[in-house]
Amino acid sequence: MCGIVAYTGSADAVPILLKGLKILEYRGYDSAGVAIQTSTGATEVLKTPGRVEELDAVVAEADLSGHTGIGHTRWATHGVVNHQNAHPHVSCDGEVALVHNGIVENYLELRAELAANGHTLTSDTDSEAVVHLIETHLKAGESLEDALLHATSRLKGAGTFVASARSQPGKIVGMRMGNAGGIVVGHSEDGNMLASDLLAVLPYTNRVVYLDSGEQSIITDTSVIYRDGNGDVIDKEVIISERTAEAAERGAFPHFMLKEIHEQSERVASAMRGRVDFENGSINLPEIPFSDEQIRNFDQVVLVGMGTSLHSAMMGATLIESFARIPAKAENASEFRYKNPVIDENTLVIAVTQSGETADTLAAMEGAGEQNAKQLAIVELDGSQATRMAHGTLLVRAGLEVAVASTKTMTNTVVCLYMLAIHMATIRGTMAPEVRKAAVGELASLPSGISSLISQEKAFKAIAESLVDCHHLLYLGRGFMFPAAMEGALKMKEIAYIHAEGYAAGEMKHGVNALISDEMPTIALAPAGHLHEKMVSNVNEVKARGGQVIAIVTEGDEIVPEIVDKVIELPAASEALSAILSLVPMQLLAYYTAVALDQDPDKPRNLAKTVTVE
Ligand code: F6R
Repeated sequence: MCGIVAYTGSADAVPILLKGLKILEYRGYDSAGVAIQTSTGATEVLKTPGRVEELDAVVAEADLSGHTGIGHTRWATHGVVNHQNAHPHVSCDGEVALVHNGIVENYLELRAELAANGHTLTSDTDSEAVVHLIETHLKAGESLEDALLHATSRLKGAGTFVASARSQPGKIVGMRMGNAGGIVVGHSEDGNMLASDLLAVLPYTNRVVYLDSGEQSIITDTSVIYRDGNGDVIDKEVIISERTAEAAERGAFPHFMLKEIHEQSERVASAMRGRVDFENGSINLPEIPFSDEQIRNFDQVVLVGMGTSLHSAMMGATLIESFARIPAKAENASEFRYKNPVIDENTLVIAVTQSGETADTLAAMEGAGEQNAKQLAIVELDGSQATRMAHGTLLVRAGLEVAVASTKTMTNTVVCLYMLAIHMATIRGTMAPEVRKAAVGELASLPSGISSLISQEKAFKAIAESLVDCHHLLYLGRGFMFPAAMEGALKMKEIAYIHAEGYAAGEMKHGVNALISDEMPTIALAPAGHLHEKMVSNVNEVKARGGQVIAIVTEGDEIVPEIVDKVIELPAASEALSAILSLVPMQLLAYYTAVALDQDPDKPRNLAKTVTVE
């Protein structure tokens, strides 16, 4: 979704903003722009549909420079992708420049009111209404920070806003309203920054502050002031981020996605470091904030998430229910938020979100909080909003994920849910010690299992290349393999643009069998386990109807390879860990299919890394 970066200080703002916008590209965008306060006292706005490189060329041509500026990458919600709709937006008198991430729900009403009051609106966006509202307040003699505060008090919705005003040079104001995208404030000796994303400030500073809903940050070259929603000055603690700017480099890999797939073996090891005691066969999760008594008293667990994180949540629900014997279910956060769910203080709500900023997931958490549920966040990005809303956080430690399609964060998330399920089972006494020791011990072979799959990359590439002419694919699985099948299909859809569906194999006879033909290959997830025979029947049914089958099986399987067209072998593992392992070949299948189709797997069309609007 939209990216924001702003700088004011002693350096030239232009290269800082352009570099920041380049870094923010991974969030997904369709236009880019900057507004710079120049030495003549003017505010120059340059923007363009298309890539940051195109903006770069426009800026170079204009020979733009200045010490204060705001920049934006737009991900269109209201209004088509064109020059007028790109940000920054400016007020009628050219006084105010504004960038926005989020949605102003009552924009039609506001635009009509502003037009009736003589404002000329030049774009079709919701955001532009805000810049004209600020203009009205500035004309009444308010400071930029008060004008932004009062303008946003008229808005319905959630978003982040960053504005500058020509008559108040050297100052930039940022504000967060609700849970649609964050603002990180970067403190440095050479100037101060605001950005939608930590990564954009890391090349300059690791001293950061995250704004909470309703808060403002007013930055100049030498000062940073924080205010609450009443306009009162507040103290915020400066955090030293441990992330480095290098995390956003892709090294020798052609794409971030491939780099991130390759990192998984090492990353799952870091998810386990200090948390798994292989000697005693136990799990140690000191970050879980709930007492043993609270854990024993939970009478249900609800995991909420979206997209890939929903698939992780589905696996987590099965793990928690089967290990810790608590009724557990995964809910799509965008549905959950509008339900009237039965939850209370004995419900554990687990928000599964790598970014910690997904608008629907945060809204689901807000609702759960109102019902006094206990909340745990499972996230990659420390300091994100979900971590601040939950009672505690389990960091997945996958490392920065830049590719839009999640890979390593899902693997690590499921590993964390696996550890959590064992932790809860231990406290609740629902796992016999020898069963627990086996479940813990098995984790030791996960990194090498992932490495051995990655070493077969060439074979997966060849299979992927055989899929390029397909228009439809079916992914089938049962048990833990059902969410894995959904995830495999999602990866294929999002980066190769091939229609793919993940189905519970038992559902086939209830409709989907009608679609089977030699034109729709099936990826059948049939590893060893108590559902293997059932999957064999499903595979036979597909074959009997002329379907091609690519099967993912456990090495040594003597049945399935005999009846299918192509085989991918997983190292021997339990059903739960087989599901984690199966993600790796499916990620590589999607990746190499996208590459063979000449698509950029890192930046799939119409998708954003962090979905900060609902
Ligand atoms: C798909 C993908 C998305 C995200 C979803 C939730 O590859 O990455 O489906 O999983 O947008 O994002 P988070 O986990 O940040 O809440």
